[in-house]
Amino acid sequence: MSERFHDVALTVNGEPVRERVDARKTLVDFLREDLSLTGSHVGCEHGVCGACTVRVDGVVVRGCLMLAVQCDGARVETIEGVADSGAIADLQEAFIARNALQCGYCTPGMLLTAQELLAGGGVPSRETIRTYLSGNYCRCTGYQAIVDAVETVAQARAKAVR
Ligand code: FES
Ligand code: FES
Repeated sequence: MSERFHDVALTVNGEPVRERVDARKTLVDFLREDLSLTGSHVGCEHGVCGACTVRVDGVVVRGCLMLAVQCDGARVETIEGVADSGAIADLQEAFIARNALQCGYCTPGMLLTAQELLAGGGVPSRETIRTYLSGNYCRCTGYQAIVDAVETVAQARAKAVR
């Protein structure tokens, strides 16, 4: 019978992490339960809602669809690390200014996904913003304010690089 527990070594928000994890444990459960990084949320647990969004090796992924053991050797970034870096300070401010959050459950995933879109540069159309964020569900805001916030930041960043 194969081993149920495995040793993994990865970096999380720039810090080296070594843990022994259950082969069945998802990345989001590992982050929340083992590392106390509770900014990534658990919603549907089957890849639909986007609440569990994190970055692995620079790419936004569903933390509920990856196993922690799959992240051996990977670079994982959560909303805590990305927020602390200051990289999304403008997005966070715009979400507050535009009332783009209410309960906040979707917000970490929304911010990471929006940041990935805006990292491509330029000012995406509202339609493009909607499409890019379409895998992140929000039960509170009706999305309009979220699109407003992302569009505002895209315009401000584009202006800043001119
Ligand atoms: S909890 Fe992962 S997509 Fe919903
Ligand atoms: S702010 Fe409540 S789910 Fe989006």
